[in-house]
This record gives sequence, C-alpha cells and structure tokens, in this order.
Amino acid sequence: TGHVAVDPGYANTASCASAITYIDGEAGILRYRGYPIEQLAEKSTFLEVAYLLIYGELPTRKQLDEFTTNITKHTLLREEMRLFFDGFPRDAHPMAVLSSAVSALSTFYQDSLDPFDKDQVEISTIRLLAKFPTIASYAHQKSIGRPLLYPDNSLGYVENFLRMTFGVPSEPYEVDPVLVNVLDMLFILHADHEQNCSTSTVRLVGSSHANLFASVSAGVNALFGPLHGGANQAVLEMLQDIYNSGGDVKAFVERVKRKEKGVRLMGFGHRVYRNYDPRAAIVKKAAQEVLSRTGQGDPLLDLAMSLEEIALNDEYFIERKLYPNVDFYTGLIYKAMGFPTEMFTVLFAIGRLPGWIAQWREMIEDPMTRIGRPRQLYVGPSARDYVPIEQR
Ligand code: CMC
Repeated sequence: TGHVAVDPGYANTASCASAITYIDGEAGILRYRGYPIEQLAEKSTFLEVAYLLIYGELPTRKQLDEFTTNITKHTLLREEMRLFFDGFPRDAHPMAVLSSAVSALSTFYQDSLDPFDKDQVEISTIRLLAKFPTIASYAHQKSIGRPLLYPDNSLGYVENFLRMTFGVPSEPYEVDPVLVNVLDMLFILHADHEQNCSTSTVRLVGSSHANLFASVSAGVNALFGPLHGGANQAVLEMLQDIYNSGGDVKAFVERVKRKEKGVRLMGFGHRVYRNYDPRAAIVKKAAQEVLSRTGQGDPLLDLAMSLEEIALNDEYFIERKLYPNVDFYTGLIYKAMGFPTEMFTVLFAIGRLPGWIAQWREMIEDPMTRIGRPRQLYVGPSARDYVPIEQR
C-alpha cells in the first residue's frame, strides 16, 4: 500500500460532502444551511433549528407545529427503562448513563431500526429528539436521589427538560422564562458543527448500516472526552482550581505555556477556528447577562475574563491562533442555572443531537457513502517465523 498518506486526526481529509453546516475557520464564520449562527441564535428556536438541520429548510408555521406536537407526544420513556436508572451507581457520570440509555432504545423500538426505511428513520428521529432530554434529566435526578418526574406535555421542550431535571413532584415548578430562552439559545449554538469528532463517529458507525440509536449512542461517547464536549466541564474545574489556589491567573498561563503535562487552557483552541469562535462571542455576552440577572455574580466569571484577556495578548496563544471556543463561557451559565458540573457535557449533547441526526440521515441518503474504513501505514515487524514458547 505505497499510496497511503497518513493524516493524523484527519486534519486534511474530507470524509464526505455535506450540505448542512458551513464553517470558515479563518474568518470565524458558522452557518447552518446557509443561515448565519448569529441570526439563528437571536431569532430562531431550538426545535426550529433542529427542523432546519434535519430537513434542510426553515419550517412553515404548520410544519413546525406538527414537528413540535409529534416530539411532545413521544417524551415518555417506557416504564422498563426507569429500572435502568436504578441499576447504575449513584455517582455514575450522566454522560455514561445517557449513552447507555440511548443505546438501549434499540431494544425497545426493534420495529423501526431499518436505516433504509424512510418512515422508520422518521419515527426514530422523533423518538430520539423527544426522549433524549427525559433520559438526561433522569440521569441527574437519580444522582441526587430524587424521584423521576413524568414529562409535562403542556410545557415547551426546554422548560419540560428543566422541570424534569430540577422539579420535585410535590411542588409546582417555576422557571424564569429568560433562562429558558438562554438555554434554548445555547442549544442552538451547539446544534451542529460539521465533521467534528462525535459527528464523524455517528457517521462512521452508521456507515456500517448500524441503526440511528446505536450510531448516536456512539456519538455521545465521543462527546464525553475532555478535548471535545467534556471541555465545558473541564473549563469549570480549571477555573475552580485556579480560584481555590489563590486566583493567580498569570501563574496558570505560565504553566500552560511551559506545557506542563496535562495542563492546557481548556476552552481555548479549535481544530478549525483560527479566529474567535463566533459561538464563544455570543456565549460570552449571554454569560454576562445571566450572571447579572441571577444577581449572584460569580468570581469565576471575572477570573475567566482576565484569563481570556491575558491569553489573547500573549505570544504563545497569538502565534498558535488560539482563541476561546464555545466551551469557554458556557459552564458559567450552566452553573448559574443550577446545573452540577457533571451535567454540562450532557447539555452539549442535547444541543448537538439534531446535528447528529441530520448528518446520519444525510450519510444514509448519500449514494457516495461507503462503509468507513480508513487505511494505515504499517510500521510493525516484517515477516518472521513463530518461535515455540520454550525457546523464547
Ligand atoms: N492550551 C494550550 N495550548 C494549546 C491549546 C490549549 N487549549 N490548544 C492547542 N494548543 C497548542 C498545542 O500545544 C500545539 O502547540 P505546539 O504547536 O507548540 O505543539 C498547538 O496549539 C496546536 O494544537 P493541537 O493540539 O495540534 O490542535 P488540535 O487541532 O489537534 O486540537 C483542540 C484542537 C480543541 C483539541 C485543542 O485546541 C485543545 O485541546 N483545546 C482544549 C480543549 C477544548 O477546549 N476543547 C473544546 C473544543 S471546541 C468544542 C468541542 O469540540 O467540544
């Protein structure tokens, strides 16, 4: 195989053609189906964006109503599934619970797993969008020993999720509508990002004609890692560590620059963006708004802002074109909303779900798709003869 070129991390390899998301990393541009992320964040809603990503066009009022009603009708989990949440240890990471439960959906819906049957793909799409937040909130409730609430179908997608996550059966759940809107907006920002690690995983698994649930569950696991979706949790832990050890931001930046083992400025850098991540700019503004709204303030926000300022003016980061990415400020908002750190990556997953589904469907429908099967450059020993164990 003399013609194989190794491309670590596939930095220069396009694995598919896609009509879903456009990124210009040099200019800091992100568009879904042609629409600038800034406009969608300001004017659209998460379910509308989900529709746009999956079906290619913004829905009419009637299409959006149908889509929303359809999703709302499927938010319940099968009762057997609740037993799952009892089986995991109390301190289970919710991302691990989420991927397991999503994988288990293939056991409950065996009648709709055929990737080439349009109706089956459609109902699986709806079920996944509907049940994913229910699963996510149950993972949280179990971790704090609270009862699982059934979805309330009079509520919107995000509100329902918040109620199931934070509500208790004996009390009405009231939530600040501004916070609902902010979370909805954050989901929009996360909804797709072309061929990132988890999306590539979803496509690769799906290219073997594995079903949608199996493919998305693999995507959740890919997102779990700290270099990908796990970064939002890692950022907050980093900020907390710096704060606990006296708040010396400069000293921390020096450790990053010395490349001390395992020390990176989390929430900075991106494979594609060599400029300010357009999502990070929107999140930064939202963080300032939310934190002033909840009225508590957070010393970690000031710390994050001075970290950013120092990094943006430091040669190490300038030379390498490292800017804040989407994960840098999101954790501060999630924290202000009351989410424990371990739920941060789950929130990323809820946001990214429409993108995974849209990309999986595009992959399945694309006549160019072949099973994903990268080659390698073999660097092991050349042929040699087996030596019996007594002679080794
Ligand atoms: N802190 C310090 N140095 C960094 C960082 C960072 N956050 N990111 C990259 N570098 C350095 C890296 O050491 C290397 O330097 P040198 O050329 O001297 O060896 C150079 O910048 C290029 O880095 P790379 O690791 O080759 O870049 P990559 O494209 O393979 O990795 C990344 C991209 C996002 C994994 C990386 O920037 C990183 O680890 N960032 C921190 C984790 C993070 O915030 N991830 C979230 C990404 S955005 C949303 C998502 O995908 O979830």
